Amino acid sequence: MQQYDPNEIIRHIYRAEDYQRLAEELLEPSVYAHIAGGSGCERTLKANVSELDRIQLLPRILRDCSSGSTRTQIFDRSLSHPIFLAPVAYQSLVHPEGEIETAHAAEATDTPMVLSTLSSCSLEEIAKNNSGLKWFQLYFQPSFVDTLDLVRRAEKSAYQAIIVTLDTPVQTVSHRAQKAGFRMPDHIQDANLTNYAPHNTIQIEQDESFIFQGIMRQAPKWEDLRHLLAETQLPVFVKGALHPADIDQLLQIGISGLVISNHGGRALDSTPATIQLLSAIRARVGKNFPLIFDSGIRSGEHIFKALALGADAVMVGRLQMYALALGGALGVAHMLKVLREELEVCMALTGCSQISDITPETLL
Ligand code: FNR
Repeated sequence: MQQYDPNEIIRHIYRAEDYQRLAEELLEPSVYAHIAGGSGCERTLKANVSELDRIQLLPRILRDCSSGSTRTQIFDRSLSHPIFLAPVAYQSLVHPEGEIETAHAAEATDTPMVLSTLSSCSLEEIAKNNSGLKWFQLYFQPSFVDTLDLVRRAEKSAYQAIIVTLDTPVQTVSHRAQKAGFRMPDHIQDANLTNYAPHNTIQIEQDESFIFQGIMRQAPKWEDLRHLLAETQLPVFVKGALHPADIDQLLQIGISGLVISNHGGRALDSTPATIQLLSAIRARVGKNFPLIFDSGIRSGEHIFKALALGADAVMVGRLQMYALALGGALGVAHMLKVLREELEVCMALTGCSQISDITPETLL
């Protein structure tokens, strides 16, 4: 794994998305393909960014923004800005310290970090090393006892919320990563899962389907989510629900919030860009229901657009990995600072001094 000089990297960054440009130039091509790639023909991956780009902002003049701030609130939590670090698996792939470095950056910039179930450092190790705002992303395990144990460990280590990801019961492949010859290196471990039952070896009878009778037999169902909600006092967000009927059912069973996400175009291809769904989902869930948006965020302008269309906050996935790969904790902190400054410029030039001023009227 190549190490870069963070100070040298930062000299070449003018905008947050420059981390992607530099990552493409400097990272080992198969590692870059693994991070950058999406599922299928990458239609959703491309649409996530192009649909955000397409929206236009309407500037305002002569507004007094001298007491402006990006401070905001998501349910009972006060945040210095509406940007989260999305759960991104196996960060040791790009930096020897992996998620520990990301957590340092999160703490230094007062950014909530969402740690993946599939992290390469254990959730306890991350909690021990920093006191920043931490949420835990949960993947259901083949055994509910193990799933619940993960939640108990997150509670014990003072994670403040759980995000359950439900859009990838079937692991989609990135053909871009396959073509580039990507293989997860042997030294990368599922640090949170070492004591749990592995996914069962799937026995398929003749004429049975590997997807239906194999993988989907082990996938979580509605009763598993209900069971989970009954077992924890932590707020539970669901990541990856996009269908209105699913959203209605989630509201009925009492989740605390939604992450509007298509997994950055890594789940089902040909789903809409998440930004295309956002305002309808906001209208459906009502004004005060917590909504976090992700998939396609590459700039402060993108963040502004998502907030204008109803998000309370956004999460960044790939930018986080590029910045970690190139600059470690300093890179991630710098990327977050640049994103926040880009957001502040949008706010100042559209006359929004508070996050709550960012409404659909700021868009064309
Ligand atoms: C992800 N994502 C993800 N999501 C999740 O819930 N658990 C996980 O372990 C991972 N792992 C992961 C690895 C890599 C390499 C990527 C790029 C993404 C999805 C992630 O949380 C987020 O939804 C998307 O990355 C958001 O899209 P952008 O910001 O990458 O466009």
